[in-house]
Amino acid sequence: MYWTVWTFLSVLMLRGASADNERLFQDPDTKLSFWQSYEPYKLDNGKGIIFRTAVPEAATSGTAFDVVMQMVVPNEVGWAGLGWGGGMPQNPLLVVFRNSNNQGVLASSRWANGHTTPNAYTGATYTVYKTGTKVNSTHWQVTAKCTGCATWTQRDGKKVYLNPKGNNRFGWAYSLKKPTNPNSATSAIPIHDLGQYFTMDVGKGVNKDFANLVSKLQ
Ligand code: HEM
Repeated sequence: MYWTVWTFLSVLMLRGASADNERLFQDPDTKLSFWQSYEPYKLDNGKGIIFRTAVPEAATSGTAFDVVMQMVVPNEVGWAGLGWGGGMPQNPLLVVFRNSNNQGVLASSRWANGHTTPNAYTGATYTVYKTGTKVNSTHWQVTAKCTGCATWTQRDGKKVYLNPKGNNRFGWAYSLKKPTNPNSATSAIPIHDLGQYFTMDVGKGVNKDFANLVSKLQ
């Protein structure tokens, strides 16, 4: 209990330490407009993961649509993940990591029915683009389109949709350890060092020219 309360307070403090966790990001590489949220995982400045989403302006509630996700991750991180429906179980999970020479980034589609190692999930597919995927001396960045992340079916048969016009709760996680075989999207992955949540207004990363801009990405 003590640790649960302390972890909760620490995360509140981490979030409070950064005045603008959320903002618009006009990406010079992909030309897409992303809405982004910065999620710190350590008290020392700069240790956090940026999550960005870009959605088509034409997307409406209760329908399937593609989403482009961009993540900026400190080099010390072995894998980073996103739960599209706000947690770990019963929603599409995205896991990203660098390959063995640290130059390329892989995106892996997973699903967990509980708090156990997630399996491969074919209901969502990710296309990683060279445009907007890069590594420098401090961070790695990945840009990937997801088809199948805006809607999914829970085990009880309930169909869930991402809201393209407003707030959505996401789950996120990271591990300092790399997957066992970082050259394979289906590699075994070690458990996270932290599993957390954030809420972000996906509707603020809206793109009129979404299909055209995405078709130009390589
Ligand atoms: C690799 C095997 C994994 C195992 C064994 C595992 C296990 C667990 C366990 C036991 C918890 C609850 C206790 C805690 O807070 O630590 C948890 C929470 C969480 N995990 Fe995982 N996890 C795994 C992978 C992942 C992945 C790949 C993601 C995201 C892509 C993820 C996202 C989360 C999130 C967001 C939470 C907190 C919210 C919730 O409980 O749903 N986990 N995980």
